[in-house]
Amino acid sequence: MSKDSFKADDYPLGVEFTEKLRQMADPYHDGMGGCHGPDHTERVHKTALHIGRLMEARLDVLSAAALLHDIGRRYETREQGKICHAEKGAELARDILKKLNFPQSFIDETAHCIEAHRYRGDKNPRTLEAKILYDADKLDSIGAVGIGRAFLFAGQTGARLHNDSDDVDILDCKPYSREDTAYREFKFKMSKIKDRMLTPEGKRLAEERHVFMEVFFERLERETKGAESVGEDFLKMMSGRG
Ligand SMILES: [Fe+2]
Ligand SMILES: [Fe+2]
Repeated sequence: MSKDSFKADDYPLGVEFTEKLRQMADPYHDGMGGCHGPDHTERVHKTALHIGRLMEARLDVLSAAALLHDIGRRYETREQGKICHAEKGAELARDILKKLNFPQSFIDETAHCIEAHRYRGDKNPRTLEAKILYDADKLDSIGAVGIGRAFLFAGQTGARLHNDSDDVDILDCKPYSREDTAYREFKFKMSKIKDRMLTPEGKRLAEERHVFMEVFFERLERETKGAESVGEDFLKMMSGRG
């Protein structure tokens, strides 16, 4: 880390513990690529701290929870979904934080954020920090990053670039199939996320990211139909001159 890139604000746990947690989380993220790997974790960490500062949350808990939130994912993948990565991640995080001698109350609060970050079943986010982690994680699946992730994922499954909404009923496209696309992901998942945010800043950011996705997919549809021009107004709007 260069001196210039150091911002105390980004290290509520202090540099030493933050780097230690990154190091300990690293082997669990190995081989997970851009969708769920360390890049995703770092983006969630930044977004969680941003919302946490605005809401005066416990940034130390948020930081640890964000850095460790997906460490159970490889177990879920290996067991083909029979294990919940949030629950497994909370269990692994407890061991890691215990080894580093964090106080029990800190471990419990952090583990709760991790086990509730999917908001499944009875595991709903009860604390402010858990709600913030949930929002930060969801925000990473929408907007420009969400689009990038959806295409990365579609690419990994050998899917098409786009299924034109006129000639394919995207309702019939099965997830993980060749006909599956980022567009289907947008229609059925990404477009619903803005209504599921739990914090005011999460909602605000989600609405902004949602508008960007609508513009992007509308444009993708136009281009796949033959590069239809939308005229000067669009250019002005996109370059901020409108
Ligand atoms: Fe997750
Ligand atoms: Fe995640």
